[in-house]
Amino acid sequence: MSEIHVVRKDNRQLYESYFDPYFRLRHEIYVKQRKWMALDRPDGREIDQFDTDEAVYLFCLDEGRLIGAMRAVPTVSPTLMSEIFPSLNIRGPIHRPDVYELSRIFVIPERRGEHAGPRLDMLLLTAIMEYGISTGLTGFSIVLESWWLPRFERCGWKAHPLGLPEMMDGMSVLAVLVDCDEATWTSLCGQIGLSKPTLTWRGLNGVNRRALPDLSPLARPAAQPARLIRRDAGDHAA
Ligand code: COA
Repeated sequence: MSEIHVVRKDNRQLYESYFDPYFRLRHEIYVKQRKWMALDRPDGREIDQFDTDEAVYLFCLDEGRLIGAMRAVPTVSPTLMSEIFPSLNIRGPIHRPDVYELSRIFVIPERRGEHAGPRLDMLLLTAIMEYGISTGLTGFSIVLESWWLPRFERCGWKAHPLGLPEMMDGMSVLAVLVDCDEATWTSLCGQIGLSKPTLTWRGLNGVNRRALPDLSPLARPAAQPARLIRRDAGDHAA
């Protein structure tokens, strides 16, 4: 059974042993398999300047094994879009506390396209939406390859282009801003058969966030507002 864990500077010490395999997996997937040679490093780990203390990671773990991940970086700090691909965003850089930039989504090759349960990439897309609405985000900026657009369309992610696609190293790449809202999260949960929030917030009791509602129609009336979890409230939804 796979679980998606939120990993941030506040609880990173609990996940320290995953970081070396995580960066090695990124090297294996992005450098060796996808041949994004600009990311190559002699130590066999793919780490960049956006892997800072402020980065938030979603780690998909199955019986203790890292099988997928995604990274979110605050746009008030430098991002891929602002530093490496500024020409893709003709509206000018996004520096907003309510917008995080997503990158490095991957699923290990043997767990892609699964049909026994929800596809892990769908689970990650649902989980990051849950993270966003739980922590008060309204959008995600992303530099992505154009082939993501029909996938987003199919799963209900609302992606607004910030400029025209450009060809880079044989890839058609563009910048988008995706809405982060409860309706999208609810719809995604319905598509993959989730009836309640999925994220594991281990060691993050001190983080201000909303507890999202149980989505089972029997569990709550549709209009019930989400509860606010206050700092130090001692909640641990996982
Ligand atoms: N170019 C074009 N299409 C791609 C693609 C690529 N590089 N990678 C995946 N796709 C398409 C596949 O053609 C497939 O389409 P289909 O469903 O119509 O047949 C679909 O995406 C599913 O991809 P698949 O890899 O089988 O499984 P998945 O949906 O479980 O996982 C990813 C999707 C992107 C998470 C997974 O392919 C992955 O980890 N890739 C490596 C990391 C990566 O490139 N991440 C994106 C940039 S950060």
